[in-house]
Amino acid sequence: MHSKIIRLSNNELEQKEQIDTIISALNQSEIVAFPTETVYGLGAIWNDNAAIRKVFEVKGRPLDNPLIIHESSIDRMKTYYADWDKVADVLAREFCPGPFTLIMKKGQHVDSIATAGLDTIGVRIPSHKVANLLLFHLENGIAAPSANISGRPSPTTLEDCYEDLKDKVPYLLDGGDSEVGLESTIVSWVDKQLHLLRPGAISAEQIQECLDSNRIDVKLHIPLTTEFLAKNSPAIAPGMKYRHYAPRALVKMIEGSSIKNKTESLQDMFTRISVSKKIGLYLSDVLFRAFELTGVDLNSHQVISFKSDHNHEDAASGLFAAFREFDRNSCDEIWVEELSDDGVGRAFMNRLKKAIYS
Ligand code: TXA
Ligand code: MG
Repeated sequence: MHSKIIRLSNNELEQKEQIDTIISALNQSEIVAFPTETVYGLGAIWNDNAAIRKVFEVKGRPLDNPLIIHESSIDRMKTYYADWDKVADVLAREFCPGPFTLIMKKGQHVDSIATAGLDTIGVRIPSHKVANLLLFHLENGIAAPSANISGRPSPTTLEDCYEDLKDKVPYLLDGGDSEVGLESTIVSWVDKQLHLLRPGAISAEQIQECLDSNRIDVKLHIPLTTEFLAKNSPAIAPGMKYRHYAPRALVKMIEGSSIKNKTESLQDMFTRISVSKKIGLYLSDVLFRAFELTGVDLNSHQVISFKSDHNHEDAASGLFAAFREFDRNSCDEIWVEELSDDGVGRAFMNRLKKAIYS
C-alpha cells in the first residue's frame, strides 16, 4: 500500500474535498494517521471492529490495551458514558478541548473492541485544528492510540509518523509538529474515586485546583513515580505496563538538583565513556551554556537544547522528537536533563523514566 500525505489546503472548498477523502476512507474501514496537539494518532471509526483490529495489528499492540475515543464536543463525549455528573462536567468544561482524557463507566450501548473488554471508556476532545475539522465532519468518534509502532516513542512530527507507518496506512494527515509533545493526561473517575492514570500537560495541580475552586470535595489520587513504573500497579492505565517510549539507544538521566550539580554530573559521565561513543544530549539552554564553560569537547556528539522555563513546556514538547532524532543519527546513548517532578515536569519525568527502565 502506498501512503499518501495530505496537507490541508487554505482554500475552503479544496479543504472540504480533502477531509471528505479521509472520511470516506474511514467509513470504508480504513485506518488513518492524523495530528493532535499531544501526539499523532492512528485512527479508525470507534465502533468499526474490523478497522479497530487493523489499528491493533499495524501498531503491534496487545488486544488487552484499550484505545481512547476522540470526539468533537462535550455533548458528543457524554454519549459514551453510563453517567455524567458534576465532577465530569466541571473537569470537561475546564480541560476540553485539550490534552485531557476522562475515563468513566461506559454506557450499556457502547460496544467496541476499542475498550478491550473493560467496563470503562476514555474519551477526549483534541484541540488541534485539523483533528477538530475531521471530527466535526464525521458522524462518529475516532478511536486512536498514538501513531507509533508499539515500543517506539509517540510521533510528534509528520516525519516521525511516516517513519513508523509508511506503506501501512492509505493516508497520513499532516498537521505540523504537535505542540504539547506528550500524550494526554488520563484521569479516571470510577466509583467516586478520582485517579491520575497518566500524567500529561494538564497537571495534577491544575485538576485539583479546578475541583477546589468549584467546591467539589474530591481528592485526585496521584501515584508515586515508582507506582507509575511498576508493571502490575493498579494505579496505571493498562497500556502503561508495556514497554514504552523507548528509543533504540540507551537512555540515562543527567541528575542534579541545581545547574551546578548537573554540570558536575555531566563532566563525570563524560569521564566514564569510551571515546568512540556518540552521545545525544537533551538539555536546557541554561545547562548547555554552563557545561560549555567546562571546555569538554562536544564535537563528536549531538546536542538538542530546549528553552528553560518554569513549567517545562518546551522540554516536554521536544522530548520524543529528540529521542527519534538521536536514533536516526545513530547515537549510542541519550542523556537527558532531570527536571523537577511537578506540573508538566511530572509528565516529562514519567516518560523519561519509562525510557530508562523499560
Ligand atoms: O494524547 C493522547 O492521549 C494520544 C492522542 C493520539 O490522542 N493517544 C494516546 O493513546 O496516547 P495510547 O493508546 O497510546 O494511550 C492510551 C492509554 C493506554 O495506556 C491505555 O491503556 C489507556 O490509555 N486507556 C485507554 N482506555 C482506558 C480505560 N478504559 N481504562 C484505563 N486506561 C485506559
Ligand atoms: Mg501510545
